[in-house]
Amino acid sequence: MATSLHPLAQTLNQDLKANKSPLFTMLSKRGTRIFFPSKGILGQSAEAKDTAINATIGTAFEEDGSPLCLECVEKMVKLPSTAFLYTPSYGLPGIREVWRKMLIEKNPSLATKSFSLPVVTHALTHGLSVAGYLFLDAGDSVILPDLYWDNYELMFEESYGAKLKTFPMFKKGAFNTDAMERMLLAPGTKKVLILNFPNNPTGYTATEQDAKAICASVQRAAKAGKKVIVILDDAYFGLVYEPGVSKESLFSELSDIHPNVLAVKLDGPTKEDYVWGVRVGFITFGAKGATPAQYKALEAKAAGVVRGSISNASSIGQHLLLKCYNDPAYAKQKQKKFALLKRRYDRIKALFNEHPEYARSFVAMPYNSGYFMCVKPIGVEPEVLRKHLLTEYKTGVINLSGLIRVAFSAVPCDKLETLFSNIHAAVQSLAPKK
Ligand SMILES: Cc1ncc(COP(=O)(O)O)c(C=O)c1O
Repeated sequence: MATSLHPLAQTLNQDLKANKSPLFTMLSKRGTRIFFPSKGILGQSAEAKDTAINATIGTAFEEDGSPLCLECVEKMVKLPSTAFLYTPSYGLPGIREVWRKMLIEKNPSLATKSFSLPVVTHALTHGLSVAGYLFLDAGDSVILPDLYWDNYELMFEESYGAKLKTFPMFKKGAFNTDAMERMLLAPGTKKVLILNFPNNPTGYTATEQDAKAICASVQRAAKAGKKVIVILDDAYFGLVYEPGVSKESLFSELSDIHPNVLAVKLDGPTKEDYVWGVRVGFITFGAKGATPAQYKALEAKAAGVVRGSISNASSIGQHLLLKCYNDPAYAKQKQKKFALLKRRYDRIKALFNEHPEYARSFVAMPYNSGYFMCVKPIGVEPEVLRKHLLTEYKTGVINLSGLIRVAFSAVPCDKLETLFSNIHAAVQSLAPKK
């Protein structure tokens, strides 16, 4: 690592330290060093934007000044050819504004709160990795429930050297806030917490009661002097199927709860808008009392990480989504797809009532949202069951953390009964007879 701190990083760090804010102290060492290179090629290109002859940036233009494209590529994409040019590392200004506006529409209590403009990432995985870059040093602990998306291990442990420290996710069928709070209050000042609702793998979202308890716990930790960075993985945001379950992201509350709490929201259209391969996501920051300059500094640091990793996210993806979000049919189509997933969720609940015999083979974990639900098999190792389902029943499920994860997002309604009957039959054929 270079020894001297770049002047642009120094300026951002000064901004983050202003007003006795704890934001600077929350950064990792890498996070303190990163900056957006606004004075290099990018800055010089921006200054030359309106020149008669612009020989700055590494893109190519036709003799008439239009983007130089291969016609065979251009004809396949119903977007202006400018969609083939780079977007800024921060993301297309239009989509950042639209996503921010949509965040408020989806989370109405954000309307009166201050938070950053979202910075575009190469979808959520990259956004999570940007958060890891900014906030995690080797040896740091990451607090999270024991049922989590396994890619966190690669992102936070293998890439940044942090250690995942889990607590049991459920206690008596509800989110285990007490266990979470114990970890937040344990020795050490800096605390990094990851919450993912709707959750992968369980399909559980904090109920309104859970959400209140979680926020109160985080607030208590902050009041006790802990500096808490809450990373909110909202990949499946919006897919909530039960009343009494939080419809808003915890970001609404946590972004305005205490100056010692920095809420970092990772979200995007991947799962919400069913565009898994488009690869666009967002990272957004919120902290009580943070100034506009501090939000700009956090955005610049995030954009600096983007610049240094992928340079900028998919331009075609961003242009495509911006067009969709302005399409009058978007909301209705989205509602229709939500209804389809909810139908499957309702069907599963009905099936469990119709088939009390399933209770001899597996126990359903709490679920109320998202793409997934999990069952705990009785008397059979999940991996043995998974393999048996594959070979004997031509049925594919995931074995994860001692549970069988069922992605009902991928299974038509009329196949759900067979799916669960297969799991039941497979457990019965494998379990030792009593
Ligand atoms: C909880 C969770 N977060 C993030 C992601 C990654 O999303 P993306 O495809 O946008 O990188 C996934 C994908 O499976 C996920 O389950």
